[in-house]
Amino acid sequence: MLLRPLEGIDEAEFTRVHVVSADAFRPWFPAAEGTPGVGSAFSRALERSRAGWETGRDARFVGILDDARIAGFFNLNEIVRGVFQNAYAGWAVSADVTSRGYGTEGVRGLLDVAFTASPSGLGLHRVEAAIIPTNLASLRVAQKAGFRHEGLARRYLKIAGRWQDHERFALTAEEHRRS
Ligand SMILES: CC(C)(COP(=O)(O)OP(=O)(O)OC[C@H]1O[C@@H](n2cnc3c(N)ncnc32)[C@H](O)[C@@H]1OP(=O)(O)O)[C@@H](O)C(=O)NCCC(=O)NCCS
Repeated sequence: MLLRPLEGIDEAEFTRVHVVSADAFRPWFPAAEGTPGVGSAFSRALERSRAGWETGRDARFVGILDDARIAGFFNLNEIVRGVFQNAYAGWAVSADVTSRGYGTEGVRGLLDVAFTASPSGLGLHRVEAAIIPTNLASLRVAQKAGFRHEGLARRYLKIAGRWQDHERFALTAEEHRRS
């Protein structure tokens, strides 16, 4: 799987993935990201991705398979520099290709980009992730990618219309290098 930024040519695939994955994504994402993809949703995603890369605030990738299908989305959001050097990771795999290892492969790739020194990578020090406790597949991906559990954040994010507890995970560059 190749990780690269979203491009204008991805609209049909982006829409297909969001349609086939609508039910699978809905319980775990805010409404704006869980809504089935339509043209305008793609435009918003493309604009957010481009703005993120331009400003350095987000590094958002799509995972592309050999047959050119989109396997998933792997994002480093809200990058803060200075003394923090931190990003929040997010991930999703298209419902038609789950349980084949793409989630783990994509998150491991994302962490490599995050922790590789600039200019090849982003040179971050810490990546965090937050997962709803009942999202067992995502908890497993976090574990396989090497994240360390930090604790339970009560009523942390408003997902599917209500404030939900999240398990908080983190990984530092030092831990990633040792793994
Ligand atoms: C979570 C998600 C990214 C996993 O993607 P994936 O490509 O299936 O991940 P992988 O194949 O690398 O690994 C999945 C692991 O979860 C396990 N798993 C899947 N469903 C499970 C379940 N219901 N209970 C327990 N484990 C489960 C798989 O067995 C596998 O573990 P294993 O390798 O030890 O067998 C994907 O299911 C998804 O996009 N879900 C909806 C969006 C989402 O939840 N995103 C994350 C928000 S925090």
